[in-house]
Amino acid sequence: MTSDPLFSVEGKVVVVTGGLGQIGSELVRALHARGARVAVFGRSASIEAAGEALGEMAHDERLTIHRVDITDRESINQGLDAVESLWGVPDALVNNAGLDTQPSAPPEVSGPFEDFPVETFREVVDVNLVGTFLMVQAVGKRMRSVGQGGSIVNVGSIYGMLSPVQDIYAYRAEQGSPFTKPVAYSAAKSGVYNLTRYCATYWARHGIRVNTLTPSGVARDSQDDTFRENYTARIPIGRMAAADEFNAAVIFMIADGSRYMTGSNVVVDGGWTAW
Ligand SMILES: NC(=O)c1ccc[n+]([C@@H]2O[C@H](COP(=O)([O-])OP(=O)(O)OC[C@H]3O[C@@H](n4cnc5c(N)ncnc54)[C@H](O)[C@@H]3O)[C@@H](O)[C@H]2O)c1
Repeated sequence: MTSDPLFSVEGKVVVVTGGLGQIGSELVRALHARGARVAVFGRSASIEAAGEALGEMAHDERLTIHRVDITDRESINQGLDAVESLWGVPDALVNNAGLDTQPSAPPEVSGPFEDFPVETFREVVDVNLVGTFLMVQAVGKRMRSVGQGGSIVNVGSIYGMLSPVQDIYAYRAEQGSPFTKPVAYSAAKSGVYNLTRYCATYWARHGIRVNTLTPSGVARDSQDDTFRENYTARIPIGRMAAADEFNAAVIFMIADGSRYMTGSNVVVDGGWTAW
């Protein structure tokens, strides 16, 4: 545990949505290891799933698991009521839950923009933008009502700052399974940036800070070699991210060291957006 208050999250109550996913489970591990009390919110979260993702830590008294659908206000408030009765109003929220279309997606949701289904667009916006809005609203309201301030981190994406580079996926057409990186995720994630700025200014005098974290792509076993090569060629640092390489930025955004920072976008992307 760090003894430096600038970077300390010790004792803080932190809600992490999607906390059993690839990036989320690393954030949960890192926050817990530094003495935070961590509440995981996930659509299919359970103690068994937490055991698989987090191991022994899943049973620790500084960790709670809540099955919460972030697109459902009632479900969110049930989760927050449970956290509040245990530990009080959260000090921080990491809006990490998200929904993206993977390269393995069926052709009807990864075809050309001209034919992209509106139902899929709505579904992706519902999780990445509406869900983030509902979480920020519910947690910020509670923080404001007790006057304690707090820190909210919304997770964006380089594909919400910039358009996806379709050339990366062009090889799929040559292989007979064409893939167009869909519009819905980009449009939804771009909304996260102004949701962040709006809430940052709206609550600034109430001590509630709101910032965005922008990650770039994380290496996964399911990615094929050509995808990895094409993607890596766009990254100045020359490799994809590891899932734990966003931990330090999030810890900083929650800790006291960032107390003068709100409405910002912290980009951790190996340099992707620098050229
Ligand atoms: N992995 C990457 O390459 C990458 C790159 C840029 C941005 N991001 C962003 O980082 C965040 C985490 O990504 P990841 O790759 O770890 O994702 P992941 O798919 O591994 O995990 C996402 C988690 O969100 C949960 N979730 C989805 N919908 C939900 C809902 N309605 N309610 C509650 N929980 C829900 C899922 O159950 C899952 O546990 C996402 O916001 C993603 O868009 C990821």
